[in-house]
Amino acid sequence: VEPQSLLFTGDSVTLRCEVDQSWDGLEFIWITVRTVKTEHYFFIVICCHCTERPKAKVSIKPDQHVFREETVTLRCDIDGEAVTSWQYSWYKDGSVSVFSELQEHTFSPVTESDAGKYSCYGEKRGGPRTSNISDAVTLTVSDFLKPTLTVEPQSSLSTGDSVTLRCEVDQSWDEWEFIWSKDSNTESTEAANKTIDSVKVSDGGEYRCRARRSGLYTNYSEPVTVTIYESPKPKVSIKPDQHVFREETVTLRCDIDGEAVTSWQYSWYKDGSVSVFSELQEHTFWFVRMSDAGNYSCYGAERGGSRTSNISDAVTLTVSGVSPPVFLIVSPSRTQHFTSVSLSLSCKDQSNSDRWRVRRYTDRVGLFDCSSLAIYYLQSAHISSFSVAGVILESPVHPVTEGDTLTLHCLYEHSTPPNLRANFYKDGSIIQNQTTEMIISTLSKSHEGFYYCKHPERGESPKSWISVRGDASILKLLHNHCVFD
Ligand SMILES: *[C@@H]1O[C@H](CO)[C@@H](O)[C@H](O)[C@H]1NC(C)=O
Ligand SMILES: *[C@@H]1O[C@H](CO)[C@@H](O)[C@H](O)[C@H]1NC(C)=O
Ligand SMILES: *[C@@H]1O[C@H](CO)[C@@H](O)[C@H](O)[C@H]1NC(C)=O
Ligand SMILES: *[C@@H]1O[C@H](CO)[C@@H](O)[C@H](O)[C@H]1NC(C)=O
Ligand SMILES: *[C@@H]1O[C@H](CO)[C@@H](O)[C@H](O)[C@H]1NC(C)=O
Repeated sequence: VEPQSLLFTGDSVTLRCEVDQSWDGLEFIWITVRTVKTEHYFFIVICCHCTERPKAKVSIKPDQHVFREETVTLRCDIDGEAVTSWQYSWYKDGSVSVFSELQEHTFSPVTESDAGKYSCYGEKRGGPRTSNISDAVTLTVSDFLKPTLTVEPQSSLSTGDSVTLRCEVDQSWDEWEFIWSKDSNTESTEAANKTIDSVKVSDGGEYRCRARRSGLYTNYSEPVTVTIYESPKPKVSIKPDQHVFREETVTLRCDIDGEAVTSWQYSWYKDGSVSVFSELQEHTFWFVRMSDAGNYSCYGAERGGSRTSNISDAVTLTVSGVSPPVFLIVSPSRTQHFTSVSLSLSCKDQSNSDRWRVRRYTDRVGLFDCSSLAIYYLQSAHISSFSVAGVILESPVHPVTEGDTLTLHCLYEHSTPPNLRANFYKDGSIIQNQTTEMIISTLSKSHEGFYYCKHPERGESPKSWISVRGDASILKLLHNHCVFD
């Protein structure tokens, strides 16, 4: 107060506010009263610096959540401008007793009893300034951790499959490093998720993982065994054959020799197309068409699992329109037979294939299968000869051709040799008598007819029709069907 604090009315006075330190943002208020009156007797001078009281903040390194035996540092920070030297006070669990007066307090190693709620507070050394007390920060100290190792999609795989091993620690820290071990002899530091895109057999084994942070290791996870099977290669087979004729029944079959897989889901592909035309192990064309010809391959995927097979090699199915000629072989080779001597009939094609269905055709019954089985693979059909009174005419089974030589014999069942001297007849007229064989050289159409032979005592043979064909090529066509008569 200048010039003095005891004044008289009418005096002039100046009031000045001063502080002993220069703080930014401080406003000084000057008041000058020119003519003092009795009402001016009291002055209240407020001199203030309106800044917030700073608040202390606790931080914990490396983390609020640590393992037993880690080194943990608590730190108190106070954002107070112009204060160079704070005196810190640390409190635990709301206690009023100060356990440390340093800015940083370290537990090395930390024990479970160090867990708790920590707060700090600061006071300016040698001055009246104080901070607000910090919010409490909780330090958690865990016992040793054990990560969990999981395998996706499953631990049993085929070569070429993809697999992900996941190492999980039920504490969310950012700075984990993961250590992987395979078959207890190798260790590598990798990410928490270890993915192998295309597994090889050598990737199989016993895996374990553990995590590490600041030189501290978790325990090893329980081991997980990954088994890699060689991706099996399916085999396509075609029954009855890769080469078939139109209208035949053809079955494609996919066989996969997959270790430890109980059920496969099959996929069939034709001519390299990606569309699946069947999902069965066997695919049957009941009446195969020319358009069914092509290259077939199959593939398998484990039902309810993730294993897959490789794709099979393609197998080519060919479908032909016309069958090759077949021949009826009659043994003994003659049209007439003795009842006591067995007769064998067989149907042969040029390729000697055994896939023909033999059907029997007779004038009286027509066409029927040789056995009750739907498919009767080619084999000789043994049938007893039909009844003849001991004498037969030996004549060719197949039609004879113009220009050929025809030889006929008259045979008797009960004599050795069976050749008889007999009379030979054509269409009821005797054409040669008392001879063992009749030869007609240079056959012509006019030689066609019913022939038989007759022995005066032994009896007469049945009649046989001898047909003479003009052209050998027609003969082949006629033989396209195996007809037994
Ligand atoms: C400091 O504490 C006082 C009284 O408890 C409060 O009003 C003020 O908001 C606190 N300041 C901070 C920065 O928290
Ligand atoms: C499938 O087979 C081929 C050739 O045999 C082979 O190169 C490939 O690695 C196999 N793929 C898988 C997934 O096994
Ligand atoms: C591991 O995989 C899981 C599931 O796919 C995912 O949630 C997680 O983020 C992955 N972790 C890492 C470190 O990539
Ligand atoms: C985890 O590891 C520690 C030290 O390495 C060991 O003392 C403890 O027995 C292990 N715990 C389990 C569950 O394996
Ligand atoms: C089937 O494969 C063969 C070679 O293996 C090829 O020459 C032929 O063109 C293929 N057929 C079809 C219909 O793709």
